[in-house]
Amino acid sequence: MPTLIDRIKERELPRHVAVIMDGNGRWAKARELSRTAGHQVGSQAAERLIRFIGRKLGLDYLTLFAFSTENWGRPVVEVDFLMDLLDRFICEKLAEFKQEGVRVVVSGEIAGLQPALQRAVVRAIEETAENDRLVLNIALNYGSRQEIVRACREIARAAVAGKLNPDTIEPDTITRLLYTAEIPDPDLIIRTGGEMRLSNFLLWQSAYTEFHFTPTLWPDFTPAELLRAISVYQERERRFGAVKESGE
Ligand code: FPP
Repeated sequence: MPTLIDRIKERELPRHVAVIMDGNGRWAKARELSRTAGHQVGSQAAERLIRFIGRKLGLDYLTLFAFSTENWGRPVVEVDFLMDLLDRFICEKLAEFKQEGVRVVVSGEIAGLQPALQRAVVRAIEETAENDRLVLNIALNYGSRQEIVRACREIARAAVAGKLNPDTIEPDTITRLLYTAEIPDPDLIIRTGGEMRLSNFLLWQSAYTEFHFTPTLWPDFTPAELLRAISVYQERERRFGAVKESGE
């Protein structure tokens, strides 16, 4: 009997899955724990997923929304905890990433992070740059509108300097100036925690992305649920705005 993973791997896999890891706070609250305890267990769910995708599933790209530009508005204790958690996560996992061919890249404003986290991020990016098994894109201090504004500023500067004719600006001109320039658009975005919104995540890149919203809280999200989400994705017909050949 082929298992679900066997059946999924027989069909076309999404190249790029991106995840909004929501629900850590509610997971903790339901257990009378602190929100930070929820993030701690959430980081273990992230670890489990990365390992599963790298070792068993073989996707090319995984993006994890770890900290948004809006998350700075949370209580200082929570922000500090998250920064520290991400720092520890990146440092502690680096050896495994190197060993398993995981390439770490970051989408977001690295310069706005605490110096220790900046150093950890730069080191992980540099030391995994040659890896080619799985690209792990960590969206960190990331906001999609800010990312698009940044690209627009770059374009405006080039136009003012006379290096770019505005009539030649195409969608791809913007795509190439985003943090994700080297990464294909996500085929599937998963959001845990029951909310059905994008929250400033990959707005430009998700023009033709398929979505999977689940009430599961992030710490409870398992590789088995990822497989079920991919299996549903594989049943969908992606037309990218065109029509399917009908033979008429
Ligand atoms: C949303 O849950 C989650 C975050 C803002 C942080 C995501 C971070 C992690 C899962 C841990 C670290 C990640 C990595 C890659 C190691 P929430 O706090 O908004 O939950 P709530 O909606 O239930 O309050």
